[in-house]
Amino acid sequence: MLDSTLSELETRAVSLIEAAADAEALETARVEFLGRKGSLANIGKDMGKMAPEDRARVGKLLNAVKQNLESRYESRKAAFERAALDARLGGEWLDLTMPAPGARPGSLHPLTLIQKELEELFTSLGFAVVDGPEVETPWHNFDALNIPPSHPARDAQDTFWLEDTLLLRTHTSPVQVRAMEKFGAPLRIIAPGRVFRNEEVDASHEHTFYQLEGMMIDRDVSVAHMLYFMKSLLTAIFKKDVEVRLRPGFFPFVEPGFELDIQCLICGGPGCPVCKQSGWVELLPCGLVHPNVLRSGGIDPDEWSGFAFGLGLTRLVMMRYGIDDIRHLASGDLRFLQQF
Ligand code: PHE
Repeated sequence: MLDSTLSELETRAVSLIEAAADAEALETARVEFLGRKGSLANIGKDMGKMAPEDRARVGKLLNAVKQNLESRYESRKAAFERAALDARLGGEWLDLTMPAPGARPGSLHPLTLIQKELEELFTSLGFAVVDGPEVETPWHNFDALNIPPSHPARDAQDTFWLEDTLLLRTHTSPVQVRAMEKFGAPLRIIAPGRVFRNEEVDASHEHTFYQLEGMMIDRDVSVAHMLYFMKSLLTAIFKKDVEVRLRPGFFPFVEPGFELDIQCLICGGPGCPVCKQSGWVELLPCGLVHPNVLRSGGIDPDEWSGFAFGLGLTRLVMMRYGIDDIRHLASGDLRFLQQF
């Protein structure tokens, strides 16, 4: 009796499997007959109640039916999968004769862009572009610039000191001294480069940033000359007239010393986080070269005078492109770099 039930079940399952129109119908058939709660599993559960002599025979039969159904199921399943793949590939299109996209061209870092622009401007005004070491002597970084031994900038908290009492230069001003030593007067130089300070890094502070030093020494150089060059510089950078103001500022290597501020280009004056709500951004410390500094460079202050300035290149880049976090600059993040 069970034997005939089994063979009827087999016939029905075979026809359902073979006739399944798609993968879904096939799956329904599998669940009905071969599933964990399917017909074959139910018969298997009942075998425990059979007489021992029936059990072996029915068991064998059940296995044979199961194998038959499973292999039919597998081969139909494979056929459906092949058909699905064929359909997908048929819809895709690949032109092997198309030229490859090639390497995406790189671009210059915004700091490099501004540096190059300024180099062009200043060379057109008769300035030479010079370079100095990033690892400096305390004499070039401090003493020759009239910075006394007790100055707080010399503290280990402000400056990275190396072995053999060398240091990472904290500004580009030591290049003033090196240029005077090397070329004497008259002199017109700019010195762009990397400088280092022991800073707590946040959105507006980095331990490594860029400055551009400028120095002009000649006979009777005055604050008026300095202002003329500073204004040409700013107009060239921002490509428009920028509001500026001069405040007295103290730097031991200039006398008189100034802070040149520009009106904030992000908010245009009313105040924003970049200008700390003041409407002005400190951009350009400058002044007339202190006689002691000229002397350190071997130049006679009775015969020559000059001006010097230290442009914060990093800050300038941020103002020009509206970059609100200094950490983007050295991040190496292509999403940032590809915008330039
Ligand atoms: N070296 C000064 C600084 O880094 C800037 C400066 C340069 C000031 C030249 C006056 C003249 O803070």
